[in-house]
Amino acid sequence: MKVRKILIIYYSRTGFTSTVANEIANSCGADLESIRDIRRRFDGKSYLRLVFEAAMHSDTLIRRVRYAPDNYDVVVIGTPIWCWNVSNPIRTYIKSHRHQFKRIAFFCTYGGSGQVKIFQDLEKLAGQAPIARLAVKDSDIKNERQHEEVKEFTEKLNNCIL
Ligand SMILES: Cc1cc2nc3c(=O)[nH]c(=O)nc-3n(C[C@H](O)[C@H](O)[C@H](O)COP(=O)(O)O)c2cc1C
Repeated sequence: MKVRKILIIYYSRTGFTSTVANEIANSCGADLESIRDIRRRFDGKSYLRLVFEAAMHSDTLIRRVRYAPDNYDVVVIGTPIWCWNVSNPIRTYIKSHRHQFKRIAFFCTYGGSGQVKIFQDLEKLAGQAPIARLAVKDSDIKNERQHEEVKEFTEKLNNCIL
């Protein structure tokens, strides 16, 4: 029997998206890969550049990925929201790999707004509709209130590949 596989790809600058990505991976036994941006995004100058580049939808330089998305039945893509936009490392990843996606799902983490637009943008970038979406607020992650919605999201992934 063919083994069905899920790959989770995410970018996280300050850890929120990473927390959700790990929780999803643990509950569905998925492979997990963090996208690494070659540019530094932590000092004051790089923060301003990040805001500018997010608004401009610029591509960035990311490190080569370990897992080939075309080996997976579902690729789950996770991003923080930056200025109502997809983070640039995830934008760059999707543009380079979208021809390799069989089915996709999206999740994002955010402070308070922009999640509806983000999902529309992700769908346009990837060129297909997702099988599931999940938006998790930072405040819910801080207070560990995300578990129920992560579980529902994971169930949708598992049901889809049965
Ligand atoms: C430059 C920048 C822009 C942001 N813009 C938004 C935004 O438009 N809407 C929002 O809800 N949160 C926004 N946030 C908050 C992040 O989306 C949120 O903290 C996210 O969980 C960070 O994920 P990470 O910890 O995985 O990097 C922004 C954060 C940064 C650094």
